[in-house]
Amino acid sequence: MASSATKPLLILGGGLIGLAIAYELAKKGRKVEILSRCRSEAAGFVAAGMLAPHAEGLKSHLLKLGQLSLNRIPAWVQAIEEDSGINCGLKNCGIVVPFPSEDKRDAHSTASFGQTLNRKELELEVPGIGTHWQTGLLFTQDGQIDNRRRLMQALEKACLDLGVHFQEGVEVLNVIADKKEFQGVQILNADRKVEVLPSNEGVLCSGAWSNQIFNAIPIFPVKGQMLSLQGPKEALKRIIFGPGTYLVPREDGLVVIGATNEKEAGFYSGLTPAGQRQLLQGIEALLPEATKWPQMERWSGFRPCSPDGAPLLGSSILKGLWLATGHHRNGVLLAAITAELLAKSICQNQLSHNEDKLLKQFSWTRFKNKY
Ligand code: GLY
Repeated sequence: MASSATKPLLILGGGLIGLAIAYELAKKGRKVEILSRCRSEAAGFVAAGMLAPHAEGLKSHLLKLGQLSLNRIPAWVQAIEEDSGINCGLKNCGIVVPFPSEDKRDAHSTASFGQTLNRKELELEVPGIGTHWQTGLLFTQDGQIDNRRRLMQALEKACLDLGVHFQEGVEVLNVIADKKEFQGVQILNADRKVEVLPSNEGVLCSGAWSNQIFNAIPIFPVKGQMLSLQGPKEALKRIIFGPGTYLVPREDGLVVIGATNEKEAGFYSGLTPAGQRQLLQGIEALLPEATKWPQMERWSGFRPCSPDGAPLLGSSILKGLWLATGHHRNGVLLAAITAELLAKSICQNQLSHNEDKLLKQFSWTRFKNKY
């Protein structure tokens, strides 16, 4: 049997967060194995790829974390692109948030980070915007990345090239612990046989399913339905972020549109007439012209959400098991900073004082004895 020193660190979840952490750790020379049940379920293949701490109106420590990640993303993506040879479609396109009134605009929690637009300016930024919108905020610092078609593949390739081992089709059944120390996991392997994978280190990043593996943490799914349209290239330059609907234009004219926010759906998957109607009404209100563009795809997935909407990051109640889950609406944005902080924390605390302080704001202990 291999000695514990040679056992790989287990990444429990092959989504964007798992890949990003595996990539960071592998670059630091760590031996890593990713366990993934069904990669197509990962929120990284569902999300629209907005990098939007300001458009989303994040607050307090979460805003700080989002802004740090946003600043880190260009260098992070450049490294992934160099390592994988895949362009990730990072676009510093800015996001316009329209409002029906100045009062509503000024109440947006990150309004002070944006540029105020009057109706005329709104029309210049988003030609064809619906008549309901009288004013807006432009966040030039927010943007997008093509997560579904590029970033996920790029990270997978970069990880493979760095020697990360993948097991796909593997269901983690349980975390194994002894005297509050992580000892590995029990899995249903790809041949549907129960097996134990011993290891002294693991990262729980199983998205909306995290609490099925480790029920000491309060994570629940929030379903999102999406669709895409093929617009004329360059018809829309900025992302439009309306209430309940956003339009994210890719380089080739594809417009990714999201998203419903269905907590009550639990893990009930698939598309519903009500959900799709919400998106179609949102398109009509934001950009009526887009209702004439051909529809390409429709899909849905599950955001991992914690009771306060912020992620759970850092050490867990078990020594050797780290948490990186609960990223809710901000997984793509937060992947870069999550990977950096987790990898530093795992590699014998390479965190600076400020990073350590920030990470502590996202500790699972804030929910201790509450759920
Ligand atoms: N980040 C947008 C959403 O979760 O719908």
